[in-house]
Amino acid sequence: MDLHGRTVLVTGATGGIGDALVAALLTRGARVLAVARDAGRLSELARRHPPGAVTPFAADVDATADRRALLLHAQAMRPTPSVLVIAHARAAFGLMQDQHDDLIDAVIRTNLAAPAQLIRAALPMLAAHPAAAVVAVGSTFGSLAFPGFAAYSASKFGLRGLVEALAREHADGPVRFQYLAPRATRTAFNSTRVDALNVALGTRVDDPASVARRLVDAIERGTPRRQLGWPEAIVARLNALLPSLVDRSLARQLPLVRRHAGAGPSSQEPRHAHHPS
Ligand SMILES: NC(=O)c1ccc[n+]([C@@H]2O[C@H](COP(=O)([O-])OP(=O)(O)OC[C@H]3O[C@@H](n4cnc5c(N)ncnc54)[C@H](OP(=O)(O)O)[C@@H]3O)[C@@H](O)[C@H]2O)c1
Repeated sequence: MDLHGRTVLVTGATGGIGDALVAALLTRGARVLAVARDAGRLSELARRHPPGAVTPFAADVDATADRRALLLHAQAMRPTPSVLVIAHARAAFGLMQDQHDDLIDAVIRTNLAAPAQLIRAALPMLAAHPAAAVVAVGSTFGSLAFPGFAAYSASKFGLRGLVEALAREHADGPVRFQYLAPRATRTAFNSTRVDALNVALGTRVDDPASVARRLVDAIERGTPRRQLGWPEAIVARLNALLPSLVDRSLARQLPLVRRHAGAGPSSQEPRHAHHPS
């Protein structure tokens, strides 16, 4: 897909990956309808780019009224968005037994239910274009369920299933569905405990700009599913084929996960969380 001249709606546009994604999309000649809750950070994002390149729109994708207002705004743009990139999410590191009901509900709502509702609402607008795309930013944990990330893994497994089912439902239509999964990436999404766990596990952590470039390449190529990073891509496949092998390997990591998960709010929220639900 040639992105030049298209409008791309990006949720989570002020996030570590979202911000880099906006920049990468602009280099390919797209303009961006940028969505997040914090209007101040959105305006700051728009100011860093040429006038008119980024249209900021403050919305909480969890809220029905905000999604409606966002769609009305998108429909008034010319051209209307023909690519929807879902790049927002809520983090939730911690042992599930220590997590509050509200956090588990919020993770599923933000990471799975809201994307489903937004995609459904945007489909008529997207399908009016001869070629369009829905791109969900997933996670390694959407293919490799990880201890300490139960609710988050469940939400990303769900997102992957949602996108795969929709791709099959729309196989003969103009809208392409893509599930693209970064591995660990250096952003404020990860709390200091997650950063420490990644160090202890020897997990490689990518730079958001390189992740964004690979995501945009995959959007241009129309890749239906992609796990970024090795060994993550291999382990994700191994988990599908021989999950008991992965069970045994992760059982050895469990003491480390438990030690870093600890308890208390800092294990459950990203560093810059500023919107209590
Ligand atoms: N960082 C990683 O290690 C990593 C690894 C694999 C996959 N991912 C995935 O990559 C995507 C981006 O992650 P990131 O690292 O860029 O996260 P981030 O830096 O924490 O950014 C999250 C973005 O989502 C927005 N957001 C959160 N809740 C929202 C809501 N209810 N409505 C509207 N906007 C909302 C935030 O802005 P406001 O707070 O202003 O709303 C922010 O723009 C996510 O899907 C994440 O699951 C991240």
